[in-house]
Amino acid sequence: MSKKIFSGVQPSGNLHLGNYIGAIKNFVDLQNQKDNQCIYCVVDLHAITFKQDPKTLKDNIRETTAVFLASGIDPKKSIIFNQSLVPAHAEGSWILGCVARMGWLNRMTQFKEKAGKDKEKASVGLYIYPVLMTADILLYDATHVPVGEDQKQHLELSRDIAQKFNLDFNVPNFLKAPEPLIQKYFSRIMSLKDGTKKMSKSDPSDFSRINLNDTKDQIANKIKKAKTDSLPMPSYVEEFAKRSEAENLFGIYSSLNNQSLEKSIDEFNGKNFLDFKKKLADLVVEKISPISLEINKLQKDNNFIDSILKEGGEKANAYASKKVNEMKKIIGF
Ligand code: AMP
Ligand code: TRP
Repeated sequence: MSKKIFSGVQPSGNLHLGNYIGAIKNFVDLQNQKDNQCIYCVVDLHAITFKQDPKTLKDNIRETTAVFLASGIDPKKSIIFNQSLVPAHAEGSWILGCVARMGWLNRMTQFKEKAGKDKEKASVGLYIYPVLMTADILLYDATHVPVGEDQKQHLELSRDIAQKFNLDFNVPNFLKAPEPLIQKYFSRIMSLKDGTKKMSKSDPSDFSRINLNDTKDQIANKIKKAKTDSLPMPSYVEEFAKRSEAENLFGIYSSLNNQSLEKSIDEFNGKNFLDFKKKLADLVVEKISPISLEINKLQKDNNFIDSILKEGGEKANAYASKKVNEMKKIIGF
């Protein structure tokens, strides 16, 4: 069955290997499966739920777009655009915000985490963030939404909102309840310095992550210094339960090679971590440095990036404005 895919990434700058393996690589694989129709959005309206410097925001929108393109998302096959170009997202979000219930939003754990201790000081936008995300998805009748585990609750909310709208206005199946697509393997790439912490752009140590714009030397050096343990090379996947750093490095190797952890363990049977790290560094350089070079090249051509977003925005607008107009008619406007 053909799938209609929608996903979004925040323009927060400094995307890393975790974003690539956990999200963007998957977007590319989905795009390249027969009959899938994919829409990938740089969610700049979501970004302003926290205060942004206008110039940095603009740079980050372009940088995230450059990462999409450099990673292999092809504007001839997929729609690539930034959310603020399509007014239907904000309009749809308002309408759906009047369908969603406070009680539902109060359960969202991401809000609690992001708002921190002083909830009174969080923006109202941060609170209704999941409603905007729901509009993103429902405006395109997306059937499948690739996201990380942390977004599963938001997807459930979007299903509830779709169902309530359909029920309240007696329009069965008008809004389509989407299915989450959550990667089973390699969905959490960990810090290179601490196997219990997620690789993250906010980690103060640059050695904890591989940035998608690192040079070959930086990549090789970071892998050389990555934390391991003093035990022999693993022989079984079960050993990883207590060896998070080794698991993470084997996870990166397996994911980038599109092979199972078992296969990677077999491959290095009888070797040592030095051999493994050399191979791993070569592989990460092979897969990431062409992306890095392409990002740098694209970042010199803002006009090109802007033209891709504009073209994608027009295609997205054609879908989304039609859907939001149908919504308006249904509710009596
Ligand atoms: P973020 O930059 O945290 O908003 O994440 C953007 C996308 O990358 C989301 O789909 C995340 O689930 C994914 N992601 C972020 N960090 C990691 C990580 N360390 N491992 C795997 N996926 C990640
Ligand atoms: N909330 C998502 C995240 O933080 C980003 C996002 C916004 C999104 N709108 C979306 C993801 C629609 C999937 C579909 O990762």
